[in-house]
Amino acid sequence: MAEMRFDRETISNAVHTKWAGKTVHFAEEVNSTNEWAKTLGKEGAAHGTLAVAEYQSAGKGRLGRRWTAPAGSSVMMTILLRPDFEPQYAPMLTVVMGLSVAQAAQRMGVDTSIKWPNDVVVSRKKICGILTEMSVEEGNIRYVVIGVGINVNLDTLPDELADKATSLYLETGKTYDRNEMVAYVMECFEENYERFVKSGDLALLQEDYNRMLANCGQPVRVLDPLSPYEGIARGIDQKGELVVEKTDGTVVCVSAGEVSVRGLYSYV
Ligand code: BTN
Repeated sequence: MAEMRFDRETISNAVHTKWAGKTVHFAEEVNSTNEWAKTLGKEGAAHGTLAVAEYQSAGKGRLGRRWTAPAGSSVMMTILLRPDFEPQYAPMLTVVMGLSVAQAAQRMGVDTSIKWPNDVVVSRKKICGILTEMSVEEGNIRYVVIGVGINVNLDTLPDELADKATSLYLETGKTYDRNEMVAYVMECFEENYERFVKSGDLALLQEDYNRMLANCGQPVRVLDPLSPYEGIARGIDQKGELVVEKTDGTVVCVSAGEVSVRGLYSYV
């Protein structure tokens, strides 16, 4: 079956939201949709503006890494936001987006879960990367961009990624409509973002998130650089910290920037 068109008009027609992805910019090729969205931000583009590309010549990952995907295989997009809240709350938006992508993939019929804090996983392997960047002026957020790369119809992965990453196609043998994927992410994100703004934290999203958390109730190893320890993951709190019950019964809240967590028997 020929793939559906993936372009500005088809995406726009699929998105049914109030503001998230209400304006769509589409390019066959850009350097990075995050860079593009930042330029749109500087030019005054509205809250919720979405930049989508079929191919990125200089896609960016976290920690200065590259993010590459062949044309036709993935969803690569960045949403521009103009929040009223203070800069310190912005990192939680990555969690809000992670939850939204997991819910969107679930709506597409794929059994998805989340590896804390924001890896969306299928069969214990990552299908998505998220990169949040912000511009601050005199202590106020000028804009935030959240870039999302989703491995949708990717049919091969480089050897070095094969044990950690996968795609929806590789897991299910089915190809998916990327327009629908963009639309579902925008719809889920809009709803989740509004709940986030309402409470100023993740309190109203905690339950949905914990339901999708891959290792909730499972043993995990907390890779604290000073003294690693084991415990049972109990879910996130309203700040997005992972609540871990240690073997001696004490409860610790683990903050994402400080330490990472592994399942005892695998990456998840
Ligand atoms: C990660 O390292 O896991 C984050 C990867 C983020 C990739 C996406 S693809 C769309 C957007 N544009 C970029 O240059 N990066 C993000």
